[in-house]
Amino acid sequence: MPKRTTTFELTLPARDEAISAYRWLYAALRDEILAGRLRPGARLPATRDLAMRYQLSRGTAVTAFEQLRSEGYIEGTVGSGTYVSAVLPDDLLNVVRGAPVRPGTSRVPRRHLSSYARRVRGEAFAQRPVRAFRANLPALDQFPTALWAQLAARRMRSAPASLLIGCGAMGYEPLRRAVADYLSASRGVNCAPEQVCIVSGLQEAIDLTARLFLNPGDRVCVENPGYPDAANLFAAAGARVSTLPLDDEGITVPEARVREARLVYVTPGHQFPTGITMSLARRFALLEWARGAEALIFEDDYDSEYRYSGRPVPALQGLDRDGLVLFAGSFSKVLFSSLRLGYLVVPPDLVDYIAAAKYVATRHAHVPAQAVLCDFITQGHFGRHLRRMREIYAERLNVLLDESRQRLAGALEISPIEAGLQTVGWLAEGIDGEIATSAAAARGVEVIPLSRYWSSGVAREGLQLGFAALDAHEIRRGVRELAMALEQSRA
Ligand SMILES: Cc1ncc(COP(=O)(O)O)c(C=O)c1O
Repeated sequence: MPKRTTTFELTLPARDEAISAYRWLYAALRDEILAGRLRPGARLPATRDLAMRYQLSRGTAVTAFEQLRSEGYIEGTVGSGTYVSAVLPDDLLNVVRGAPVRPGTSRVPRRHLSSYARRVRGEAFAQRPVRAFRANLPALDQFPTALWAQLAARRMRSAPASLLIGCGAMGYEPLRRAVADYLSASRGVNCAPEQVCIVSGLQEAIDLTARLFLNPGDRVCVENPGYPDAANLFAAAGARVSTLPLDDEGITVPEARVREARLVYVTPGHQFPTGITMSLARRFALLEWARGAEALIFEDDYDSEYRYSGRPVPALQGLDRDGLVLFAGSFSKVLFSSLRLGYLVVPPDLVDYIAAAKYVATRHAHVPAQAVLCDFITQGHFGRHLRRMREIYAERLNVLLDESRQRLAGALEISPIEAGLQTVGWLAEGIDGEIATSAAAARGVEVIPLSRYWSSGVAREGLQLGFAALDAHEIRRGVRELAMALEQSRA
């Protein structure tokens, strides 16, 4: 086991005057070790330092160390460094008061959970190698990390105190301005910088919206099939989630059954997961409905920056004259997802509510990261990166379409999408999505059956296929393997 130096000061519980100084120090260190706060291999402070910090004689500290050493808790010698023993008997670890509770033991106390805690659902994050056809992932190997590092270093080398102190809840002002300019020019969004809130990912924008505009029991409508983590957040907030079917023009406008809905969540630019672009007529119909129902529309514009064909489709928000649309986007797909930066554009009268909710929960997004992103945008790198990636992704999409026409005909019909990082393939009659997914996984290919995105009644079975993160070679390999997996999966 590697030896580790404790670089922090060891804080022991207050001294109990009823017991001797030696006994107290011995017991306090032993408890730290058994509770796992001092881990095997960790270096203990020198006896001289401990004695000074806790106003003991050095001899007292040495005697406590000797006792711990003789019982096997620590090893090493005074003078050359003392470390927590690499191997601590399991039975010692279980007896001490305050030791971390291990799942499955009878020591878990009864918890009183909120109704939110009972409803909220999350997923464990898993790092997996990138392979065909991972969805929701940009080509991270193409991201200019060296340039980003240069911008970050320049920012931090000359960082004024203001950059280290923080910023207003709505975000770093220059970035809000840059985002407003970008959205007006490129996405047809109608907004002033004051309406832009910089959030820690689009997911936070949905969370803020759910908490501010929905009460438990309120009705919210989502697309079916649709993005599950939006529905999950609305359900966690206690809302009643209704699903609305799609047709070729996008989500169908809420009918009588859901007339009382307070909010509709949509992905008009590139519907998740089908890739449908919402028609202009449908956009107007949805706005008309929201006006009549006094409801809000949440427009999730998660990856429409990458448009390969068709006319650029401006945001639904740009058509809104009545302050009905909350528009949100993310830098996760255009840059990289661990950046955790996105934006929420809100009607002017709702700005203060968003600012207050953001302030009490997280204060503001990470300021140095916002500043670097701002430089990346205002110095022209963002536009260049988008243009370059659009070409790369268009090429990759073409490879996927060509290969699929040759090898998947009659089994999987790939949808001709206009934008985004992934597409769907519609399965031929007699091929089950889950069975095909397992057969593909056995051949080293990742697909997601669309049935996982349907909340009820799967109208058409298909597979979601990401292509952006894969080079041509991996796409070809994926199509070959998928063709065999689909053949095996025929009923
Ligand atoms: C449709 C959709 N909306 C929102 C998000 C969340 O984005 P972010 O990473 O910015 O939280 C995702 C992420 O995959 C998504 O696919």
